[in-house]
Amino acid sequence: MTRALPDELLKLPHRTEVPFAKLTTLGVGGSCRWLFEPTTELEAQAFVRACARESLPYRVLGGGSNLVILGDIEAPVLRLRFPPDLRRMGLKLSAPASFGHIRMAQGAAKEGLSGMEYASGIPGTTGGALRMNAGAYGTELVDILDTYRFLTPEGELVEKRPEPGEFKYRWSFLTGGHVALGFTVHLVEGDRGRIEAQVAANMEKRGSSQPLSQRNAGCIFKNPAGQSAGRLIDQCGLKGFRVGDAEVSPEHANFLVNHGHATAAEFAELMDLVRAKVLESHGIDLEPEVEIWRAG
Ligand code: EPU
Repeated sequence: MTRALPDELLKLPHRTEVPFAKLTTLGVGGSCRWLFEPTTELEAQAFVRACARESLPYRVLGGGSNLVILGDIEAPVLRLRFPPDLRRMGLKLSAPASFGHIRMAQGAAKEGLSGMEYASGIPGTTGGALRMNAGAYGTELVDILDTYRFLTPEGELVEKRPEPGEFKYRWSFLTGGHVALGFTVHLVEGDRGRIEAQVAANMEKRGSSQPLSQRNAGCIFKNPAGQSAGRLIDQCGLKGFRVGDAEVSPEHANFLVNHGHATAAEFAELMDLVRAKVLESHGIDLEPEVEIWRAG
């Protein structure tokens, strides 16, 4: 049965019954019963505090580009809609968590600031990038991170420098009710033309090996140490294998794509099958790289 939400939550900007097809790049899943979209840090804090007071679990959504939804979600979902304020302070650049990650990389290039070129093909929001410690081409966000802001699950606002253990390969502690609010990166002065060329080259490289024209959630599984999940799945002969509208991409085997109408059940079945085949053939149990939300 659907739980009624407290009035103090319902006072905050929200929508109801939003299909996840509109909130995620993969377009699989059901309906988002409650979508809260604060436009300020204070509103976001009010949301988290109200949920904490009521012991009400909630979920945090970024750009929905690294997320697989496997059903209807009844818990309140928080999606920040802060003003898109990209700010330069000397060699530092800051953005709110709802700012586009690629847009920030392009902004850095335009300013002649180097260090964020790796991010030029990684979709989603900067908040999602922080939460996942996004990376490509041997660099990850923590390498250039100066300070970051977040809400604790109790609603306390914290701003700090990264410390050892807080960010690892595609992982940070910013889960379980933490909400990333924004961050500042430290970059170096560079030649604008050269940086923009590198940004374009990274996007081109990604476009040539990944199925970016189809609905996808990026790489589905993490690379096991010293291995490539894409190569392992490929070696199992699974490229092009389909369950309904869900398919192992013929271009890159670690991308499972949605041909348009893939259901949550089809997608879950395909993920389980890929995992089981890789375990059987290589003895390696792949770990999802995407975040998975099951119904609830
Ligand atoms: N390969 C295959 N078959 C495939 C796919 C890849 O044999 O179907 C081989 C490639 O030929 C290459 C090796 O596997 O020799 C590695 O492939 P690739 O260069 O595409 O890199 P990846 O390890 O599959 C990682 C990240 C990507 C990121 C690229 C580029 C992970 C799980 N994946 O992919 O990130 O874009 O490097 O830096 O860390 C993501 O995070 O969503 C993502 C896609």
